[in-house]
Amino acid sequence: MLTSAENETLVRVGPGTPMGELMRRYWMPALLSRELPEADCPPVRVRLLGERLVAFRDTAGRVGLLSEFCAHRGASLWFGRNEEGGLRCVFHGWKYDVDGTCLDMMNEPGAFDFKQKVHLRAYPVVESGGLVWAFMGPPGRRPPPPEFGWTQVPEAHRYVDKTWEECSWLQGLEGGLDTSHVPILHRRLREGTGQPGINPSAPLLRGRAPEVVVETTDYGYRYFGVRELEAGEVYVRGYHFVMPFTQIRPGADFTGGDLVAGHMWAPMDDENTMVYNWEYSLASPMEDPQAVARELGSGPGEIDERFRKARNRDNDYRIDRGLQRTDTFTGIFGVNTQDHAIQESMGPIADRTLEQLGQADKAIIAARKLLLDAAQTVADGGEALGAEAGVSALRAADRVIAPSGDWHAEMLAEMHGDGA
Ligand code: FES
Ligand SMILES: [Fe+2]
Repeated sequence: MLTSAENETLVRVGPGTPMGELMRRYWMPALLSRELPEADCPPVRVRLLGERLVAFRDTAGRVGLLSEFCAHRGASLWFGRNEEGGLRCVFHGWKYDVDGTCLDMMNEPGAFDFKQKVHLRAYPVVESGGLVWAFMGPPGRRPPPPEFGWTQVPEAHRYVDKTWEECSWLQGLEGGLDTSHVPILHRRLREGTGQPGINPSAPLLRGRAPEVVVETTDYGYRYFGVRELEAGEVYVRGYHFVMPFTQIRPGADFTGGDLVAGHMWAPMDDENTMVYNWEYSLASPMEDPQAVARELGSGPGEIDERFRKARNRDNDYRIDRGLQRTDTFTGIFGVNTQDHAIQESMGPIADRTLEQLGQADKAIIAARKLLLDAAQTVADGGEALGAEAGVSALRAADRVIAPSGDWHAEMLAEMHGDGA
């Protein structure tokens, strides 16, 4: 349970808010690189941390991320023409390069031209892992470019997409840090039905409810859900929480393979979130990326051109009560769609003053504390927790551990690449 003031601090992300200022100390996913597939392609709207922006790829292939609204009289540059070396507003023809420098003013005769005085807000970007990342904080606080496991592997080893979630970023993150819900919300009632979810025979589902163990680190924390199985074995799922909103978890096969997956919950504003979903294989190309998309609920016809779900609040996520009786716990198709349905059902901003939390919610409690403390540190002029931490070697893992095994040592060896 939180106080109302703590809840407000955590969920408000606009400029000048404590959490917004904390988030502006990290590289943030702004869009998928494939949304700007080629030089001079149409611009794309981006909403991030309460700001409305426009992204474009110029003639040289560089990406610009600018205020959506023209510096002249505020028309949306999304309608703009992506011309030779810049984005031109179609209202009066002012043109901007990727740095926001005004290059030309079509509506002013030469003698009155004041383009050298005009600068449109622009944020630095880098591209890696199939994403365009933006840094929206003070220039002197810019950390090294983001490096995660999935951004380092060849493109064919990786699946990445994104989905618009219609609630606060914190509801999404807390869902991702809540291992106890996974074999419940995402349960298949029987095998071989073709419905996304977790099979009854999987150790995740056979195990008892988990004991949750959280260990804080210089990037956030790692945590374990330890589930007793039969005959003295335990099944352990190990995750990482990387500040401020990244989850790294075992891949979707739930069988102890080498797949690693996760999400980033990038706040669009206080009540909307762009969820980046990724999965990758260290060892080999992804065998069937479309199978990942289907499992998540992002396959063909599921997500529109603005990344909204076809199954959404307006149609009750097309819940099938027949399937809910016979095949899946929710009757909703798609693992992510199940998460979104339940997280959005809590309202645009959940009221955390009314909760009753238990042992199973330890990871959620720990994340809130880290975030609140980090926001205070930044407000006091300090460094943001984890902004400079090296996280590229972090792996998530799940393993069945023998009765004689040391689950903690075995998991650590799997989860830090170098065994540290
Ligand atoms: S509003 Fe964009 S050029 Fe006038
Ligand atoms: Fe979930």
